[in-house]
Amino acid sequence: MSRSRGPDGVLAERPERGDERDGEPPRREDETTAAEALERGSREHYDDPDLYDFEYRRRRRDVSFYRAVARELLGPSGRVLELACGSGRMTTALVRDGHEVVGIDLSEAMLRRARARIERLGRRARRRALLVRADMRRFALAARFPLVVMAFNSFEHLYTRVEVAACLERVRAHLAPGGQFVFDVQNPNLRWLVRDPTRRWARPLFRHPRTGERLAYSTNHDYDPVSQIALIRLYYGPADGAGRERVVHLSQRKFFPAELEALLAHGGFTVERRCGDFAGRPLDGDAESQVLVCRARSDGARR
Ligand SMILES: C[S@@+](CC[C@H](N)C(=O)[O-])C[C@H]1O[C@@H](n2cnc3c(N)ncnc32)[C@H](O)[C@@H]1O
Repeated sequence: MSRSRGPDGVLAERPERGDERDGEPPRREDETTAAEALERGSREHYDDPDLYDFEYRRRRRDVSFYRAVARELLGPSGRVLELACGSGRMTTALVRDGHEVVGIDLSEAMLRRARARIERLGRRARRRALLVRADMRRFALAARFPLVVMAFNSFEHLYTRVEVAACLERVRAHLAPGGQFVFDVQNPNLRWLVRDPTRRWARPLFRHPRTGERLAYSTNHDYDPVSQIALIRLYYGPADGAGRERVVHLSQRKFFPAELEALLAHGGFTVERRCGDFAGRPLDGDAESQVLVCRARSDGARR
């Protein structure tokens, strides 16, 4: 999705430059607001799964990729742990293929949607799926899996080094010996990161898949080059311009390739394969994604 500082934007709540003129540290309430903005951005985009599924209805290449990974590693059936499984896009495909999938996600709305999808499968397939509300930074399941996947930039909801380490530690704890951890994140696009946050980008018109409302969609974001977090705003306004616009926040941590490899090494993983998209193109500066196939080091050492 294309991704900005409007009057309703989260960073409009940040202190203006003039407020800092005296060299005073930011006020405590501003810090709280930034933390809240981050938290909102990990959740709001997932409050409307109908809209989410509609927006990403054409995103199929990643599904084909993860299905192929599972088939190659596990054969026709095996056990998969899917972190941040969302509305079940990937889960359903893997279950349908014959795998047993445990999916975890923080969003109850997304899980509800995923459960409804699973319900529509046949009885035997339904028994192969288990969906659990849990946080990928601190979950504990009484099982280990030969394959752990985390699709569609979900890793970008790990905002700090501590959160990344916590999640990787949980992945390690749930991987069977020799198992693989496969995930994808965006490859940071330098031109996108420095886009003018006061402008609106992309303005397609569409009909809300549930309410039928005709809407105009646009985005902009603020990117903080120190935390490497983009606070994205997704604007949904009435197509005829009359009425209120809704702002949905989405916070994404950006990971640069060498940094990501270092974080994985620190977490006890080796990167076995790394591509720039789901068809296997090499990772270079123009690649859209970073798709990583990792294995936990058997010595468990952090290098
Ligand atoms: C971009 S969606 C991807 C969903 C799904 N993997 C897919 O491919 O469609 C990111 C998902 O991460 C979930 N999420 C965000 N923070 C999380 C956390 N700390 N633990 C578990 N899930 C989280 C959201 O609820 C959302 O469903």
